[in-house]
Amino acid sequence: MRDFSDVIREPLVIIGASALVLTSALGLFFESFGADETAEATVAPEAIPLPDPAPEPPTSSDALQFKPLANLTSPWPDDGRETLLTFVHLSDTHVGREGDHKAFEVAVEVINGMAPQPEFVIITGDLTDSFTPSQIRIFKDINGRLRAPVHLVPGNHDVMFDPTADRIQWWEREFPEFRTPYRVDYGPLALIGVDSQLWNARRSPQSSGQIAREQWGEMEKMIIEARKDGQRVMIFNHIPVMPTFYRSRISKSWETGWMEKYLALFEKHGIEAELSGHVHRDELYTRGKALFLNAPPISEKYTRQASLRLFRVTAQGLMYRQFYLREHGRHLSYQMDLHGVDQEVHGRWIEGMDKLDLAELWKFRHAGDPDSSRWFPHIDHDQLRAYLKSPFDLQPTARMNSRLKMNYTERP
Ligand SMILES: [Fe+2]
Ligand SMILES: [Fe+2]
Repeated sequence: MRDFSDVIREPLVIIGASALVLTSALGLFFESFGADETAEATVAPEAIPLPDPAPEPPTSSDALQFKPLANLTSPWPDDGRETLLTFVHLSDTHVGREGDHKAFEVAVEVINGMAPQPEFVIITGDLTDSFTPSQIRIFKDINGRLRAPVHLVPGNHDVMFDPTADRIQWWEREFPEFRTPYRVDYGPLALIGVDSQLWNARRSPQSSGQIAREQWGEMEKMIIEARKDGQRVMIFNHIPVMPTFYRSRISKSWETGWMEKYLALFEKHGIEAELSGHVHRDELYTRGKALFLNAPPISEKYTRQASLRLFRVTAQGLMYRQFYLREHGRHLSYQMDLHGVDQEVHGRWIEGMDKLDLAELWKFRHAGDPDSSRWFPHIDHDQLRAYLKSPFDLQPTARMNSRLKMNYTERP
């Protein structure tokens, strides 16, 4: 078997941060409640086995600038750019099981220890596993310990895939300051938080069509105002706007009409990025100049390893560090420089990868899942390459969507 080091150009090193170990073994079982991308899985180990041998770091290229992480608190690279601010993006805390509480607690501890403190933290949904009163209480308790201001949006585990008026009111009762859409500004950034479930393909138009249209109108107004104010706009939501690639099949996430309208806004208003979660993978896509940044989860549900993402904002763009929180997951931590990365650069990078590169990249994106290789023999590499280059343009498969009872329109 070809060694993975053959395909990396800039190997990562293990970060030197200490005291990030989760001490309890986690009893992890697959659950299909939220029908995230691993919904088909039926067998799971009782606890996360240590990777053996430890998976190697991700595929890299000069263009995308994967870099070694010296340690958690090392200065940003001396690249002549001023750091305007930093912020943290984390996702999918899924508070509900003891292990996930602990992972979230560790994340909060790590963030509170950052110096300087990030200007703000965003958490992009699936805050709890099933939004019960006790889960909400635990989430609020841990979340409340963060020193930096936090901004939340709901995920499908919080308001379901088809948020009804009742469900949305429930969210707003619990988190009145995060009624979507809303805008917060930090330095040059305007961040707009939305509930992506209102536009997703499992939504019933009868139950939430009006609410979906209202949120859309308000969001569009906020984007226009923010751009008039000269701000750089980022939207954060739970479900990423592209279809999902899972076991060589494309499944729908957003309803097609909403997806196309949403993507059009990015071009029309020069929106810089979408920050999302939901798929429990570490993913990056581009469309024109816009970045679509999927953070891997804090929760170790679906056998992922807990991690969080620290962003550096400069006048010229973004870079981030992905920190994995478990001792045995540290080799996955890396730094990504997104300055100058657009669809053309990203497309060239994907085009330059052979089948093994693609498989290794896809494996890496499963965020440390030691069992993820069970899917790889089934990968259609051409389909995967097309997906990585531009998932927005791909049609979901009828089989996948009928199984998931999707409500979507076919493109002509
Ligand atoms: Fe999730
Ligand atoms: Fe989700």
